[in-house]
Amino acid sequence: MTLPELDLRDPAFWQNPSPVLADLREQTRVAITNDGSKLILRHADVSALLLSGLFVNEGISLLARRGFKPGDALYEFRRQALGAMGGAEHLRVRSLVLKALGHQQVQFVRGVVERRLPAMLEPLFDRDVDVLQPITSQLPLEVIGEYLGIDVGDRARVDALVREGQAKAFGREVTPQIVQRTNQIFSELLAFVATQIRERRIKPRNDLLARLLDVEDSQQTLSEDEVIVLFLNLFIGAIESTASSMSTGLLLLARHPELLDALRAEPARVAAFVEENLRLYPPNTLIANKVAKQDGEFCGVRFAAGEPVIVPVPAPNRDPRAFEHADQPDLSRAPQRHFTFSLGPHFCLGQALARAQLQAFFEVCSRHVRRIELLEQRIEWQPYAAITSMKSLRLRLHR
Ligand code: HEM
Repeated sequence: MTLPELDLRDPAFWQNPSPVLADLREQTRVAITNDGSKLILRHADVSALLLSGLFVNEGISLLARRGFKPGDALYEFRRQALGAMGGAEHLRVRSLVLKALGHQQVQFVRGVVERRLPAMLEPLFDRDVDVLQPITSQLPLEVIGEYLGIDVGDRARVDALVREGQAKAFGREVTPQIVQRTNQIFSELLAFVATQIRERRIKPRNDLLARLLDVEDSQQTLSEDEVIVLFLNLFIGAIESTASSMSTGLLLLARHPELLDALRAEPARVAAFVEENLRLYPPNTLIANKVAKQDGEFCGVRFAAGEPVIVPVPAPNRDPRAFEHADQPDLSRAPQRHFTFSLGPHFCLGQALARAQLQAFFEVCSRHVRRIELLEQRIEWQPYAAITSMKSLRLRLHR
């Protein structure tokens, strides 16, 4: 069977993926990328894929193919990262982390946003500003920094290292120099966390790092190595994705002033706004870390063991079979599953924290900002980005 093709090398796709994916989704259940990975497009099929157990997360083979070897700092980090684990080990670590995250995370995160955001907005009113740097990149860094217990003076350096390391490790190009630099970065990051742990052993503190070190469940605990990896896992997972959703939400409010009015009049609708924005503009355009567990058939198509499968998230998230007038934001939509945080055993571990942060963010914005004026009509998006991001977002905020 010949499957319709999606060319991921086409820069135009990355400027506006949803219409391209909608065309494919209405033609077929399964498409194929230019490099031969199959794409599952419809809502019911994606649910089945993520819950079926027929596909598992890829583990470490991706890095091995990119030239990283056992003993390399990145390889050793990734080998123990939640996204690359599976089976009982993955479940054990996840349940311990969930216990350490605890139910107070929502209150904590709201508190940080309520305290910090008004002061961040204040100098930006009535000016032409690109809000990405001063707001949407900065706030998630402050939130996760406080939550994990990273000192203010260290946050920017750790963030810069993580961004460079991620871009190099998973970027389009990989050369021996890139492998070397990436390993250098990850050694520095792992050493940073080890020092943080030593400091807490000497002088106890009450932050997530301290809770990860102490957490115990049915006599199980996390080893120090596991805590080091988790600390970075949480830090890496937390910033760019949340920043992406803050910026797409601001863009949506600038394009739909009536939504901003609705949030101000009825703050209880903020949660629905956050969900609609996550559904329409998922930070991960592609969930591309899964492979077939064994030879088999899915959606009428053969998969060989180890063969990759991709979920292009806007396709199922905008499937008219699951959502009425699916391309429109609708604050009165009945809650309905979307795949922005994935589903199944690897369902995003930080989703409650991300949702709490985004809700607090848009609540504060709707209280303080009366109107958002969009100063660039054509938004440019970073092509080939693992996390959807704009090159800039120039706005004028009116009180
Ligand atoms: C809007 C914000 C966020 C989005 C859209 C998002 C999305 C995702 C996605 C798509 C996955 C992959 C799931 C899979 O492999 O099937 C994931 C995993 C993960 N996320 Fe998030 N995430 C967000 C925020 C966060 C935050 C704030 C944290 C940490 C505090 C976090 C930590 C993680 C971790 C640790 C995993 C790995 C889970 C596992 O493999 O068991 N994420 N996230």
